[in-house]
This record gives sequence, C-alpha cells and structure tokens, in this order.
Amino acid sequence: MSRYGRQTTSLVLYFNFHFFLSLFCYLPLPTVFSQLSSNQKTAMINLSNNLNTPTRVVPWDVNKEPNPCLWTGVRCNPPTNSSVIQISLSGHFLSSSDFLPLVCRIQSLQILDVSGNHLTTIPPGFISDCGKLGGLKLLNFSMNNLEGRLPDFVGFSGLEALDFARNNLHGSIDSELDGLVGLRSLNLSFNQFTGSVPTRLGKFKVLEELELSMNTFDGPFPAELVGYHNLTLLDLSGNQLSGSVPDGIRELAKLEVLILSANKLSGGIPQSISNITSLWRFAANSNNFNGSIPDGIAEHLKNLDLSYNKLSGSIPSDLLSSWNLHTLDLSNNRLEGQIPPVLSPSLVRLRLGSNFLDGKIPSTANATNQTLTYLEMENNNLTGSIPPELGDCQNLALLNLAQNHLSGALPVELGSLSHLQVLKLQFNNLSGRIPIQITQLPKLSILNISWNSLKGSIPPSVSNMQNLTNMNLQGNKLNGSIPASIAFMDSLMELQLGENHLSGDIPRMPMSLQIALNLSSNLFQGPIPETLSRLSNLEILDLSNNKFSGKIPDFFTGMKTLTQLLLSNNELSGEIPDFGSWVMVNTSGNEGVTNRTKSTLPKSEKKKSYAVTIVLAVVAAVVAFGAVTTVALSLSRQNDRVNDERVQTGEELAVPEVLQGNLLTANGIHRSNIVFTRAMEVVSDRSNIVLKTRFSTYYKAIMPSGAIYFVKKLNLSDKIFQLGSHERFAKDLEVFGKLSNSNVMNPLAYVLTVDSAYLFYEFAPKGTLFDALHGISGDDMDWGSRYSIAVGVAQGLSFLHGCTPSPILLLDLSSRSILLKSLKEPLIGEAELLKVTDPSKSTGSLSTIAGSVGYIPPEYAYTMRVTMAGNIYSFGVILLELLTGKPAVSEGIELAKWVLSNSAQQDKRDHILDYSISRTSIAVRSQMLAVLKIALACVSVSPEARPRMKSVLRMLLNAR
Ligand SMILES: *[C@@H]1O[C@H](CO)[C@@H](O)[C@H](O)[C@H]1NC(C)=O
Ligand SMILES: *[C@@H]1O[C@H](CO)[C@@H](O)[C@H](O)[C@H]1NC(C)=O
Ligand SMILES: *[C@@H]1O[C@H](CO)[C@@H](O)[C@H](O)[C@H]1NC(C)=O
Ligand SMILES: *[C@@H]1O[C@H](CO)[C@@H](O)[C@H](O)[C@H]1NC(C)=O
Repeated sequence: MSRYGRQTTSLVLYFNFHFFLSLFCYLPLPTVFSQLSSNQKTAMINLSNNLNTPTRVVPWDVNKEPNPCLWTGVRCNPPTNSSVIQISLSGHFLSSSDFLPLVCRIQSLQILDVSGNHLTTIPPGFISDCGKLGGLKLLNFSMNNLEGRLPDFVGFSGLEALDFARNNLHGSIDSELDGLVGLRSLNLSFNQFTGSVPTRLGKFKVLEELELSMNTFDGPFPAELVGYHNLTLLDLSGNQLSGSVPDGIRELAKLEVLILSANKLSGGIPQSISNITSLWRFAANSNNFNGSIPDGIAEHLKNLDLSYNKLSGSIPSDLLSSWNLHTLDLSNNRLEGQIPPVLSPSLVRLRLGSNFLDGKIPSTANATNQTLTYLEMENNNLTGSIPPELGDCQNLALLNLAQNHLSGALPVELGSLSHLQVLKLQFNNLSGRIPIQITQLPKLSILNISWNSLKGSIPPSVSNMQNLTNMNLQGNKLNGSIPASIAFMDSLMELQLGENHLSGDIPRMPMSLQIALNLSSNLFQGPIPETLSRLSNLEILDLSNNKFSGKIPDFFTGMKTLTQLLLSNNELSGEIPDFGSWVMVNTSGNEGVTNRTKSTLPKSEKKKSYAVTIVLAVVAAVVAFGAVTTVALSLSRQNDRVNDERVQTGEELAVPEVLQGNLLTANGIHRSNIVFTRAMEVVSDRSNIVLKTRFSTYYKAIMPSGAIYFVKKLNLSDKIFQLGSHERFAKDLEVFGKLSNSNVMNPLAYVLTVDSAYLFYEFAPKGTLFDALHGISGDDMDWGSRYSIAVGVAQGLSFLHGCTPSPILLLDLSSRSILLKSLKEPLIGEAELLKVTDPSKSTGSLSTIAGSVGYIPPEYAYTMRVTMAGNIYSFGVILLELLTGKPAVSEGIELAKWVLSNSAQQDKRDHILDYSISRTSIAVRSQMLAVLKIALACVSVSPEARPRMKSVLRMLLNAR
C-alpha cells in the first residue's frame, strides 16, 4: 500500500486534485503494482482456489484483490513485495489438509501459521516438499486435531520454531527432530506423547524454548537437557516425571522460566537453582519434593511456587526478603518454625497456608509494604496478636489468618485497609469487641470472624459496609440485639450469627439475603417475626436452639426458595404447615408441635411442580473432571466438512463390534429409539463426525426411527481415562446416568467395544455457543436467546456445583464446551468424564490443564487447582461474551481484563455492551447492564469475592 501511496503523491505534483480523484476512483486497480513473480502469483491463486472449495472459508479473492500480498494473513518481503514470506491461516475452520503441499510451492516462504483449525493430518507431501524450503523458519500447527505420531522432519534446515501445542499427537519421540539443526523453539504441550522426555532436539543444541507440558512423558528428569546451554524457557509441567532434579541444572545458565509443576518429582529442591541468575520464575508445585528449602533460592526470582509438596524444616531467613520476589507460594507443605521477619518490598502475594508454622506474625515485616495485595497464612499454629502494622499495607485486598491460635483484640488499624475485600480470621482466639473501624471498610465483601471469643454487641455501623456479601460472626460471645441498621445492607447474601448470646427483637432483614440466615443457638424469644416473610430469595433459615414460641407461621410455605428450615429446640406449638417435599423442615424438640393430618395432598403436589425448576437437589456422589475442549467444529458447516473428510481419508473403517451396550435413561422414547448396531455403523464412517474435543469425538447418529443422537467416542489413549475394568466403567456411568438436569448433557446409553467406549446423548443441532456467537455463519442471537442461554448455563452449573457430597467441577468451561439444543437451550458438555478418569490424577497434574485461554481465572496461575470460584470466573467470561458479542480473547487481549478496565466508571459501561443488541430497547439495555454487574462480580480478581453459583443464578433471574 505504501508504494501505491508514494506514487500517487508524486502524481498529485503533476496533476490537479480533481484529476487525481478521478484516477483514484475510476481506474481499476492496476495489477502492475503487484511485483510478485507470476510463479508465486499462480501458486497463491491455486492455494486460494483449493482453500475455497466449495465455500469461501478464507477471504482471499483474486477478483476483488489481484495482489496476493494484500490478502489477509499474507505478508510479502518489504519493501518491494516481490515474494511471499508469510502465510497465516489461523482460525479458519479448515479441516482438510489438502492445501498444505500447495503451500510448499512458495519457495520464499518463511512463516506458515495454520493454528486454530480442525486439521487432523499432515500429508507426507507436505513434509517432503516443505522440507526443501531452506528459508522456512516457523511452522505453527497448534490448536488443531492432529492425530498419530509426530512427523519425521527431514530437511527443514532453516526451521527455528515449531509449534504443535494442543493437538492429539501421541507416541514417543526419538529421532524425529534430529534434522532440525537450527531449532530454537519447540512447543509440544497439551498432546498425548508418552515415553521419556525427548532430548534429541537439534544437533547444534541451540534450542532456547522447550514446552512439553501436559503430556504423559515419564521417567526421570532428563539429564541430557542440561546440555542445551541456550535454554531460556523449560516447561515440563503436567507429566509423570519422577526421581530428583539433578544439580547439573545450574548449567542452564540462561534459564529465565523453569516450570516443573504437577509431576511426581521427589528429593530436595536443588540448591543450584540459585546459581542461575537469569531465572525469574520457578514453579515446582504439586510434586513430592521433600527436605528443606535451600538458602538463597529466591535471590533472583520474581515468582516462586513450591506449594503442595512435602517440604519441611523452617523457611530460610532470607527467602521472604528476597529483593525481587513478587509472588511466593509455600502453602500445603510441612514447614515449621517461625515466619522470618523481613518481607521484600516487592511482594504482591504471599501464601504460607496449611503448614506447621508457629510463633508470631512478624510485625516489622509489614510496616512499609505498599505492594502486598494477598496475604494468606491460614491453617498454621501462629500465636500472639494480629500486628497493628498490617494496617499499613495499604494495598491489601485479601487477608486470611484463619485457623491459627491468634489472640488479643482485633486491631483498629485494620480499618484503614481501604482496598480490603476479604477478611478471614475464623477459628482463632480473638477477644474484645468488634471495633467500629472494621465496619468502615468500604470494599469488604467477605467478613469471617466466626469461632473466636469476641464479645460486646454488633456495632450498628456494620451497615456502612455496603459491599459486604457474607458476614459470619458465628460462634462468639456477642450479646445485645441485632442492630436495626442491618436492614440497609443491600448486598448481604449470607448472615451467620449462630452460637452467640444475642437477644431482643429481630429487626427487618435485608431482602438480598439468599444463601442463609442463621440465628441459631442464641437467646431469642417470642413469636417468629412476620418480617422474615419478605426474604423471598432465602434458601436456608436456621432459628434452632432459641426460645421462639407461638405457632410456626404459615408464611414460610410462601417462601418459594426455601430448602432448609431449622426450628428445632424452641418452644413452638401448633401444626406444621404444609411444606413441599423439597423443603427440609426440622421441628424436633418443640413439645407443642404436631403433624398436620394429611388431607391437603393435591395442594402440595401443585406447589411441587411450581418450585421444581428452582430446587436443584441431587443424590449422586461424584467428583468431576471435564475435558479440555480444544477446537470444536461448526455444525452448521457440517456438509462441507463431510465432503472434505471423505475425500481426505478415503477409508471406511470396520464396524466395531458391541461387547456390551446398556441404556441408562429411563425415558421410554429414547429407549426405543436407540439402536446400538446402527450407532456402530455411524462411527465407522468419519463423515459423521461433527465435533472434536480434546478427549472425545462426536458423531451425528440417525437412528432407524429417524431420531438423531450424538454418539461420543472417548479418546481412550488419553492419559486421564482409566478404563480399569468394564464392570467398573459401567457401574460408574450408571451412577452418572441418574444425574439429570436439562442443561447438562447426560449420557442416555453407552456401548463398550474392544478398544473404545461410546456414550449417547441428546442431539444439539445448533452446535457450540462459540460458533453461534462468533462463528462465520453464526445465527444472529437476540437478547432473549442470550439471556436464556445465560440462565440455562447458570442452572446447569449450580446443579453440578450443588451435587452432594462433592460438587462436580468443570475443568474447562468455555463457549466451546456449551452446546445448543436451540438458540435458547444450552447444554453443558463433557461434565460426566469424571467417572472415567483416574482419580490419582485428580489433585495435582490434572488441574494444570484447566481451561481455555481467556477463561482461566488469574489465581490458577498461582494455585494450579480447579475450584468452584474458578468455574464461576469462566462462567463470568461466558456472560461477557453474550453481553459484548466479543470472543474471550481477541487480538491477544482477554475479554475479562478489557471489560474490567473499562467498567470502572458507570457511565462507560454502556460502551461495553454489544450495541446491535442493546440499542433494540431501553428495557433490553437495562437488563444487559444488570447482567453486566453480575458478570463483573463473577470475574472478580479475588476468588473469594466471586459469588456462588446459586446466588449467580438467583441474581440472573432477578435481572429479568
Ligand atoms: C507490500 O505489501 C504490504 C501488505 O502485505 C502493503 O502494506 C505494502 O504497502 C506493500 N508495499 C508495496 C511497495 O507495494
Ligand atoms: C502459534 O499460534 C498460536 C495461536 O495463534 C499462538 O498463540 C502461538 O504463539 C504461535 N506460536 C508461535 C511459535 O508463534
Ligand atoms: C467462614 O468460616 C467458616 C468456618 O470455617 C466456614 O464454614 C465458612 O464457609 C466461612 N465463610 C466464608 C464466607 O468464608
Ligand atoms: C411427624 O411425622 C414424622 C414423619 O411422618 C415423624 O418422624 C415425626 O415423629 C412426627 N412428629 C410428631 C410430633 O408426631
């Protein structure tokens, strides 16, 4: 373009402006400006034609733009543009690899990026032809569905960077990369490679970056790697490495980032790490490292994570004061002794929780620390009082000192922490009164000072904390009455005041209460106050162990969201009102209470159906690990792809033989529709594939009755599947088949064959939410659809989170893992994979593969643990996608971060919304703004500040 521009400038010198305009506007764009050789131009046009049959997938059109150098994703060599040097075809839904050998005809090619497509194979012609291109520097195949082994790279003498991350490649790696003499960067992470860590990575050992995380490499830490002296980045996390880390690692003198998290490494943390002066990030969490932490290890480090190991001994005296240290996580070890007194002035996050630390919290530590934002020392044996100097840490957002032996009063100085959002001091021996200063914390959202020895009354000024969502004062010695001002705490969702000496009148409670109101084990008496009937969102009400008297009021039956009503051990009398069967009512220990004679059954049936959508009660006992959906094919483009696949593979696989097939669903319609043998015919034909995810392949199966189902093949080669025995697998699935929720994909049936397992689901004809919102041929989704989807996903997720005794957590929740039955009915996919995973992988390694970029909560970077709060963050991102119409990551910027930084001012929030939707009406706009508020709470940086899923659902329903 600049060449064209320069020429026109000179033209202007000679001709008048009008003439220039007519020249610019009316002459067809002259091809003379393209200086590409005709060879290259032909090659590019061939490539464009190949890519664009039968539909236009790539926006390259020689009729519209004759100069291929100006096509999207194409770069030619500056300044003359005489040859093509870069082709980027990232994210174009390409599934056929036929075009690849054509690329190799561009002799001048330096960079080829085909990341983020649906490619399954690399044709041999590509390797042999492109191998001859001496100038080819970078090959990017990341985020496809490549299967099979790593290709044998012959030639490629100029290759510097090779990226195969996030595919389904397997097998071990031996000599495949031997020929790559100039390789500087290799990324094979998120595949299913096995065997020992590859160490033949280019003859001249010039490698700088090696990323092998999330595979199944095993064996010891490879000593040969130490010979790659140029390494700056080494990431081996999420594998099965065992044994100790050799001291020779110090020879990697240029190392900047070393990540060994989530393996089975043991022995000591090598002292020699401290000799690597360039190293700024070191993560060795979730291993079996033992012994004590070596001295001087953090001298140069900015981020150090040694959490979830078996480290013992005391914290080295200089560790916390290391000058550059920003984040330090030593939680969940066996560390003992005192906390060293001096903290680095750079520290942002310090986690020392769940160790055996004792002594006092050092006070000198905190005096001048202005950067410290997260301080966690919970679950240790700390004694003494809370140092008032903590009040000087002006940036503190999270302070967790719970479960220690701290005593003395709550220091008034904490009241000056104007950024504090979470204060957790429960389970200590704190005494004295609740200082008024604490109630002035403007940003506090969680206050937990339960199970201490606090006395006096609750200060009326608590109502100043307008952002407080959870207040837990349970288990203290508080007396007097509850201040009337509590009615004005408009954000309060949970109020726990049980086990105190409170008495007097119960004031009006804020209508925002949802999670629980607990007044149990106090000295309240008299009738149950009428004002409680206003709490139309409340789920748990506990009034037990008081002296309430009179009748059990009838208004309780009108509180539609109530699931637990605890009235035991009072002085109540009369009949128990007629509650729906979903309400757990305990009236024991009330002498005067009698059972109602069962005469009003029909009425209770009616109520049940009214409330059944609200009450999400489940029986199953499961811990879930979903799958990482890497790339999903667009269902709407299924026909094109079907053709591609058939041409490409040209094979018909043998029909698998059914070893065992069982129906899980009780639904008679499905039971008569599903025919196992038909399903096996379907899966033997690759053209029936409609969707591929990291752990499974979805086929569209049309049954003889005409009914359509998804048949999902589990990728059993993947390490997380543990098909121990067929019986166990079947039993596990049967348990899961009983979980039913209309917004979660529940297995209806399964089939086992010799080498695979197939699950049957309802068909979701609209594809993934991602494609519907952001896909090329996506349907237009109005606000009604988007809102329904938000509520549906929230319903499914609160169902999964509410499962007892352990919640079902999703490893990867994104718009790609949500399928659409219709544009209003979402289904959360892959939640059931839990039962076929190996539980031994559950705590450490598996969690490190959590999520898709853009949906991963910030704390996962430090904690490497999948949590409910993490799921809520991901859900918040999905809400933001629905509100803004933008994908979770665009142009390298995460949507959540963009929205957070643009939403500080209320008046700016309008600009965040998808204008094509928000302009439709004032009502839509105000609903969108209300949902935006909920989304913002979900993506709070601090996990503690995020609401629980039940509350999110309630808030969404209220936003209507
Ligand atoms: C070369 O191509 C680039 C786009 O790839 C364009 O911006 C630039 O103006 C072209 N330069 C010349 C001299 O044509
Ligand atoms: C390959 O592409 C992905 C996604 O487009 C990108 O994140 C990654 O950085 C690229 N890899 C290299 C080595 O450039
Ligand atoms: C407060 O602490 C209690 C006791 O450990 C715990 O059960 C509760 O979940 C905590 N609440 C919040 C909001 O942190
Ligand atoms: C009321 O009925 C329940 C179950 O039918 C029984 O367990 C309970 O003891 C009864 N209570 C009274 C006061 O009769």
